[in-house]
Amino acid sequence: MNGFPTQNGAGASVRPAGSAPSTRSSLEPSRGTPAEGSSPGTEEASQAFRPRRLPPPSGERWHGTPHRVRIAGCGKYLPARILTNQDLATFVDTTDEWIRARTGIHERRIASPEETTSSLSINAARGALATAGLTPLDLDLIIVCTFTGDYGGMPNVASVVQHALGANRAGAFDINAACSGFVYGLGVAHGLVASGLHRTILLVGAETLSRYIDWHDRTTCVLFGDGAGAVIITGEATAEATAEATAETTAGANAEDPPMPGGLMSLVLGADGAGANALLVPAGGTRLPPSYESIDARQHFIKMDGKDVYRFAVSTVPDACAEAIAKAGLTVDDIDLFVLHQANVRIIRAVVEALGGSFERAFVNVDRYGNTSAASVPIALCEAVELGRLKPGDRVLVAGFGGGLTWGAAVIEWSPFQGVTDPA
Ligand code: ACO
Repeated sequence: MNGFPTQNGAGASVRPAGSAPSTRSSLEPSRGTPAEGSSPGTEEASQAFRPRRLPPPSGERWHGTPHRVRIAGCGKYLPARILTNQDLATFVDTTDEWIRARTGIHERRIASPEETTSSLSINAARGALATAGLTPLDLDLIIVCTFTGDYGGMPNVASVVQHALGANRAGAFDINAACSGFVYGLGVAHGLVASGLHRTILLVGAETLSRYIDWHDRTTCVLFGDGAGAVIITGEATAEATAEATAETTAGANAEDPPMPGGLMSLVLGADGAGANALLVPAGGTRLPPSYESIDARQHFIKMDGKDVYRFAVSTVPDACAEAIAKAGLTVDDIDLFVLHQANVRIIRAVVEALGGSFERAFVNVDRYGNTSAASVPIALCEAVELGRLKPGDRVLVAGFGGGLTWGAAVIEWSPFQGVTDPA
């Protein structure tokens, strides 16, 4: 179904990151391809299947007591293959000038045929675990935010990731809120840790959008790219919880300790299903199951009314962001960095300026990666850390918007990481 022309040799070539443009047609499978973890449905997988539950890492009481939440690590993975605007212009009626001017995108990454949403996720997850100084056995839960799973419905991506990482204590599920998915996931993960129901969660945003792109449709194929970003969300007991767990008095249990910076300061989630048709994959679900007709009509690819989605983004997202900033008890001047969904640099600029903020405080990497949907916010967070633009104690506004229509905004106080800073 994937009509990306390089796969049948009919179109543009793509080049690995950091290399000069070349005509190289096939690339080495990257780290983390499905071969690394056996894939469900294979004989290897069924032989390896052995339900295992390990006890919690320590005997201390955790469930049901309130906890401070922080982001303890982050990682990202972008496929090596680069597809430039010039490459696109060789097989679709577009130009580098049009794409740059209307979107700010210069190039995007395209997964190799061996790569899947789970393999992208696994690579990002390993980076996040390393920066947090944790192992897969520290994870209680894995959440993958995506609408481009490895399989047509089930199993979920998170279970494939859980098995490949050897995260044998972790539950696993996916969230589908399209480009807002990661912000929704932040809310779910924060709530589970803050309530004491879970201790350490791997939250991934990952998409292999290239498999859902109609390479004959210039209004969508220039916009999207593949990638994954991941964060570790963990908690530490509040003074009250520590006192309760150790049977000490509250006064004797770190009541004087200043809290470590970190965690969600506010969260705003929204949806308007009336606009669902503005951005959708029409076929492949229960409404229009796969058929010869649906394939012939190219109904398994992303369809978008770009103008409608643009109008929705620039009208709804500033209000959601303003609400998140107010709920956090802050003003726009208190925000150190804006990490908005990387769909279009014009939307990022319009949202930040509508808030009264300065575009210089917006993080932008849509030029290099395009729109990676649920992956765009965690990739940008991770890159901002790597570039020194996001430091412990900073207040960062994150926002996602897209299919559903859905949107989400949150203010995070950034935390120090305990593990290595460079997983490489
Ligand atoms: N190359 C050249 N011309 C093009 C291309 C292209 N790739 N695509 C469209 N055009 C043409 C159109 O046909 C149109 O021509 P016409 O005037 O002769 O009819 C002209 O360019 C203008 O098209 P518009 O749609 O008006 O262009 P616009 O400035 O609105 O930009 C874009 C289009 C980039 C898609 C913009 O509307 C946008 O960014 N929308 C939001 C997309 C988004 O944010 N999605 C996020 C959610 S994604 C998710 O959830 C998975």
